[in-house]
Amino acid sequence: MPRSPMIVRTLPALRRALDGLRAKKATVALVPTMGALHDGHVSLVRLAKRRAAKVVVSIFVNPTQFAPTEDFGSYPRTWKADVARLAAEKVDLIWNPDVRTMYPAGFATKILTEGPATAGLEDRFRPHFFAGVATVVGKLFTQCRPDVALFGEKDFQQLRVVAQMARDLDLGVRVIGAQTVRERDGLAMSSRNVYLSPEQRRAAPALYGAMKETAKRLRGGDDLEAAMAAGAELIIAAGFALDYFEARHAQTLAPVKSTKDGPIRLLVAAKIGNTRLIDNVGV
Ligand code: PAF
Repeated sequence: MPRSPMIVRTLPALRRALDGLRAKKATVALVPTMGALHDGHVSLVRLAKRRAAKVVVSIFVNPTQFAPTEDFGSYPRTWKADVARLAAEKVDLIWNPDVRTMYPAGFATKILTEGPATAGLEDRFRPHFFAGVATVVGKLFTQCRPDVALFGEKDFQQLRVVAQMARDLDLGVRVIGAQTVRERDGLAMSSRNVYLSPEQRRAAPALYGAMKETAKRLRGGDDLEAAMAAGAELIIAAGFALDYFEARHAQTLAPVKSTKDGPIRLLVAAKIGNTRLIDNVGV
């Protein structure tokens, strides 16, 4: 059986462990997660191993990025399986603070983000989300002081927000995005896919199918508005309630009028039953 990674839950223990890892000036990569690990997380860990000598994975279900109406209470928690997966990947350290360690009584600071965080995508439907993410990721960066940090492209706006924050606050960490890992039928891997009923699971790959079809039409020179409208119809026909399906500039996330305004990213958020899925593709 692979050796379990070091698991730390307090800040003094984290500091000691990081001092040990950094001996002989080893570089450190951080993979921030909320647990419920899947192959997408494992791909981030593998990429992290190629980018740094030591790999730290944080597992913390961050309450401040969930609205009171959202799924903080029911978010999947699979601690034992997570540790086993990280042991198999020979991760060096798991940082697993509890809520009181991350947000001690009297905690009163937030990182407020603009630019990509106010692009009118996730922020329009989850107004609390990016302050929660930026604050916790800012804390994870200052706690772990990584040289690089890895985030999945599935949460494309989050990746842009975190990269902007690291740059703006001189946090000295290079934020690296990694390609979305998909199931064989194209559904983007997500810890929330476990919420899907068998019927919803069968319908869910239509989201990626519609984006791929739209991207193909755009690459073939179709009018942007017409291609996006046809893509939205495909998504709705598959049984989704659409929050947004948008073509944006891949770097700034600004709206675009034509494919000439690119590079372009198509971004979608849609609900099937009570489960909200997000995804994106490049054009
Ligand atoms: O993408 C996630 O899992 C979370 O938003 C993150 C980056 C770990 C912050 O809690």
